[in-house]
Amino acid sequence: MTDRQQNVRKVVFSLTATAMVTAVSAYQLARAESSAEWQPKWTASGELLLPKGYHEWVYLGSPLTPNALNGGNAPFPEYHNVYVQPEAYRAYRKTGEFPEGTILLKELQLTRPATNDDGSSVEVSGRGFFPAALNGIDISVKDSKRFKDTNGWGFFNFGHHAPPYEKSAAALPADACANCHIANADDMVFKKFYKPILDAE
Ligand code: HEC
Repeated sequence: MTDRQQNVRKVVFSLTATAMVTAVSAYQLARAESSAEWQPKWTASGELLLPKGYHEWVYLGSPLTPNALNGGNAPFPEYHNVYVQPEAYRAYRKTGEFPEGTILLKELQLTRPATNDDGSSVEVSGRGFFPAALNGIDISVKDSKRFKDTNGWGFFNFGHHAPPYEKSAAALPADACANCHIANADDMVFKKFYKPILDAE
């Protein structure tokens, strides 16, 4: 083999090696993105699996609509504790928008049994409402492809009762959930309640 032939072989070899490394990294990146641990998980039939570990997510706030202030008959008399994945929270804080795959998880938590007519009870800190048993989960998920007919968000209920909750849930019809969020929320999420934590310094 001449020197020239040997040089050509070296160049071809190093170009091939570079191309392989590039292809492998692109593949790894794509895999990492599509299988990112924090993304929602779906069953083969398209139901959302109840996420795991959500008590370790970022806590955004707790709207409260007690029975005592709703004629004794609030549809959701519990605290509505809202959580979001830390990855989605960090992305929101960078861009001001929830990324694809965001899960807003609202866990209902009963207030302690009333000892007063207004539904309140008394603790050493004062008279008021205090958290007690867990009592259900509602979820909204951002997925612009799956839920393109409802502004890119899907809505799910995993039971309105004490745990254990349902393991998976099908998306609910627009009339049950999405339409009220479309009509009343800020880009599908009632952000005004969570801004103190979403936008905290
Ligand atoms: C009548 C209007 C209305 C309907 C119908 C409704 N929601 Fe909401 N939703 C709200 C309001 C208002 C809030 C924030 C205040 C609160 O929780 O009380 C909220 C909050 C939420 C949150 C917390 C994140 C956010 O956007 O604030 C989730 C998750 C959620 N709803 C899911 C659901 C699901 C699932 C359904 C259907 C089973 C549903 N919602 C039906 C009005 C509605």
